[in-house]
Amino acid sequence: MTYVVTDNCIRCKYMDCVEVCPVDCFYEGENMLVIHPDECIDCGVCEPECPAEAISPDTEPNLDKWLKVNAQYASAWPNITVKREAPADAKEFDGKTGKFEEFFSPEPGQGD
Ligand code: SF4
Ligand code: F3S
Repeated sequence: MTYVVTDNCIRCKYMDCVEVCPVDCFYEGENMLVIHPDECIDCGVCEPECPAEAISPDTEPNLDKWLKVNAQYASAWPNITVKREAPADAKEFDGKTGKFEEFFSPEPGQGD
């Protein structure tokens, strides 16, 4: 199994998760992060750290799509281990539905 980053990370991108991961397996896109499924050791410490509740274990139902998104983009985006400022308008997007369809960007973030 692995943990996965899901829809509510998009445009919230709080980045509290990256500081607690013992194996540094977060990767940064333009407006969300993903977890590398082959590097995650399932410790679970990132899940409660996310203010947007965007991280879940892939054992929860209906996360197949997110497992694919995490796996695909973890191989394409740069590693991130240090938290930066969240987007200024992050709060406005917290809890919105359908963010993947409306806002997902395949562009990489800047990484560390
Ligand atoms: Fe990192 Fe643990 Fe979260 Fe996996 S579950 S991404 S190893 S903090
Ligand atoms: Fe995203 Fe939550 Fe991390 S919003 S960047 S998964 S702290």
